[in-house]
Amino acid sequence: MSLLETARDIREQAYAPYSKFKVGVALRSTSGAVFVGVNVENAAYPEGTCAEAGAIAAMIAAGDTQIAEVAVIADAPTPVQPCGGCRQKLKEFSAPDVVVTMANLSGEQVTMTVAELLPGAFSKDQLDM
Ligand code: THU
Repeated sequence: MSLLETARDIREQAYAPYSKFKVGVALRSTSGAVFVGVNVENAAYPEGTCAEAGAIAAMIAAGDTQIAEVAVIADAPTPVQPCGGCRQKLKEFSAPDVVVTMANLSGEQVTMTVAELLPGAFSKDQLDM
């Protein structure tokens, strides 16, 4: 199964009773393992989490720290774009050339690199640690 097919399947598990906007993410780490995430909303709206955050948390819990490829999908009129916060989250664990495939349920898809999604990103290099 492709990364995008995996994201499409897991999307069904999203908990999005408030926005009704289910998002699925699948990412492959450089070890080759695949991790999935869905958005998990909350009655206290700001406590909801994005699908990307879930997939990244699963990767980190498994001991991997480098993303190789990402797929994100939602039922949107155009291929779903990761939100700004998720671009920053993806950037933390991705080389600039990591490819993010964005898709919708109609079969449309576009790809962009992490560097294209977040040009001029703030990064750990700037913390001078
Ligand atoms: N959402 C994600 O899960 N990922 C994104 O990158 C875009 C937005 C979720 C958050 C919220 O549950 C719903 O989509 C509508 O904003």
